[in-house]
Amino acid sequence: MEKRKARIAVLVSGGGTNLQAILDAQASGIIMSGEVTLVVSDRAGAYALTRAEKAGVRGIEINKKACGGQAAFEEKLAAALEENRTDVIVLAGFLSILSENFTSRYPRRIINIHPSLIPSFCGASYYGLKVHAAALARGVKVTGATVHFVNEIPDGGEIIAQKAVEIQPEDTPEVLQRRVMEQAEWIILPQSVEKVCAEITKV
Ligand code: GAR
Repeated sequence: MEKRKARIAVLVSGGGTNLQAILDAQASGIIMSGEVTLVVSDRAGAYALTRAEKAGVRGIEINKKACGGQAAFEEKLAAALEENRTDVIVLAGFLSILSENFTSRYPRRIINIHPSLIPSFCGASYYGLKVHAAALARGVKVTGATVHFVNEIPDGGEIIAQKAVEIQPEDTPEVLQRRVMEQAEWIILPQSVEKVCAEITKV
């Protein structure tokens, strides 16, 4: 009998290159213990939803602004995850902060990718290009990416994987962001998704 696969929901806000890395890893067999069954965007027009559609995965928009508040947004999100019978929630470039009321429902079931070596350049005000701009401004010579479980503290949950990336003298935030994605994020996120899904589905 074929082993049950964990049902993965990926939460996104933008371009969705990390979602793409997960979908590609599923297609190539790097992810074999889980399958992406739902993609949710918290904002309108996220290209990640087009990526989901191209891969034949159900994608929905729960527009946070239109929900009129954090609690209403999280209720809608929880209902969609419930309906999907979600086992694992992956935040892949998802830029909304989730409250303790939400995260406490899914202990060790939500994972996030952050584009620095936590505990450097992390927390609620560090996201996207801001993280890389801060690393360059501080003059660090090594940065990287971190995958961690999500709890009530932004970027504060248990670390699952990290990978270091060297900074080059002429780097701009954009150039550095791309290198961190290529050399770290797109590798450790799929690996971590597989690790967590394998753990959940093991008999
Ligand atoms: C990625 O670099 C991800 O690590 C970062 O946003 C980018 C999204 O890109 N996430 C955060 O900063 C979370 N604090 P993507 O939409 O192409 O995956």
